[in-house]
Amino acid sequence: MKNISILGSTGSIGTQTLEVISYFPDKFKVVGLSAGNNIDLLAKQATQFRPDMVSIKSESNIGELKSKLNDDNIDIFFGEQGASNVASHPDADLVVSAMVGASGLKPTIAAIKAGKDIALANKETLVMAGKLITEEAKNRDVNIIPVDSEHNAIYQIIKISDKKHLKRIILTASGGPFLNTPAQEMNNISVASALNHPTWKMGKKITIDSATLMNKCFEIIEAKWLFDLRDDMISVWIHPQSIIHSMVEFIDGSIISQMGLPDMKIPISYSLNYPDRLNLGIDNASPSNFTNLEFKEVDTAKFPSINYAFYALKESGTLPAVMNAANEVAVLEFLEGNIGFTKILDTVKKVMDLHDNSIEYNYNTIIDSDLWARNKAKEVIYN
Ligand SMILES: NC(=O)c1ccc[n+]([C@@H]2O[C@H](COP(=O)([O-])OP(=O)(O)OC[C@H]3O[C@@H](n4cnc5c(N)ncnc54)[C@H](OP(=O)(O)O)[C@@H]3O)[C@@H](O)[C@H]2O)c1
Repeated sequence: MKNISILGSTGSIGTQTLEVISYFPDKFKVVGLSAGNNIDLLAKQATQFRPDMVSIKSESNIGELKSKLNDDNIDIFFGEQGASNVASHPDADLVVSAMVGASGLKPTIAAIKAGKDIALANKETLVMAGKLITEEAKNRDVNIIPVDSEHNAIYQIIKISDKKHLKRIILTASGGPFLNTPAQEMNNISVASALNHPTWKMGKKITIDSATLMNKCFEIIEAKWLFDLRDDMISVWIHPQSIIHSMVEFIDGSIISQMGLPDMKIPISYSLNYPDRLNLGIDNASPSNFTNLEFKEVDTAKFPSINYAFYALKESGTLPAVMNAANEVAVLEFLEGNIGFTKILDTVKKVMDLHDNSIEYNYNTIIDSDLWARNKAKEVIYN
């Protein structure tokens, strides 16, 4: 039996993780759940899975959660510290890190410090502090198994290969809903159309990140840290069907890809039960599911976010954390209808340009840079 704590249990990844777990009651036990504001769903999940502890974002919701749970055996915590308690639950064998954005950083570090293996969906953690996270994981012999479908694909391929033969990785990107939208129409995009992703159903923030290709930008940085790659070993190809989840090219010209229908339960199940696979009963191997697979280069004039990723990688230090924070602010402002679509990337670029980068960093300087970038992004948007 493997004991699992889930950070972000009420989100898209969190709920799909619980769905997979529910298929295998003899293999997994949920020991901790952490959520934000969705008290109703968290209470339902806790009633079904009976964890030892739960955590929510704000203290003011504890009374409501307590009365919905009506179970004194479940400890209730709140805030960053609460999520960190769930992450470092003494009995947890694996922590699924699936909070959204910078909120996932501290609890993920708490899990690593407690020696827990991580199933990592919260890519922002590696964007903000990749060096710190991967060093800490190495020092504590912690496995980080990527949940992101692209990185999960590469992880699967690298595990059956010799890394010294690796030439480069090719991250695939659907291109999002505006792949074929003319550049001059990009600022008239509505929130509803930006939330209408052609191939994946995800939380709001990552869906907007997919529409601007900031998601791919984060994935470039995530890949660098997960697989210890030089910047020139990472490429991105547009692949609108989201069937090939990513590829690895080797020095002899061979390219190995991992494919399947776009269903996050597949990489989630792999990361939950690594190194063994689970029988999910998915029957997707039919020629009609895999026709007309297309690949092309990214139009970086229309989606400059890809350039930001390589610039942030080259500069490193606190710049990636600044890029992440500026993007979080701009995406929220877009979702609230306060700015147009193209203003998201404009804001990210302006804040990155204004940042006085600090190459050496620690947890505190990352948090300071994150805060600085959030304030600067608001200034850029409203002044
Ligand atoms: N969705 C996908 O298919 C997918 C694929 C690959 C990678 N990812 C990555 O996985 C992560 C989660 O994505 P998602 O799509 O699952 O997001 P989501 O649906 O928005 O869910 C986010 C989760 O985080 C919780 N949360 C947000 N802010 C919080 C805070 N301050 N404190 C505590 N909990 C907080 C939310 O709680 P409430 O809902 O209760 O407020 C929810 O449980 C992101 O980093 C994303 O990039 C997602």
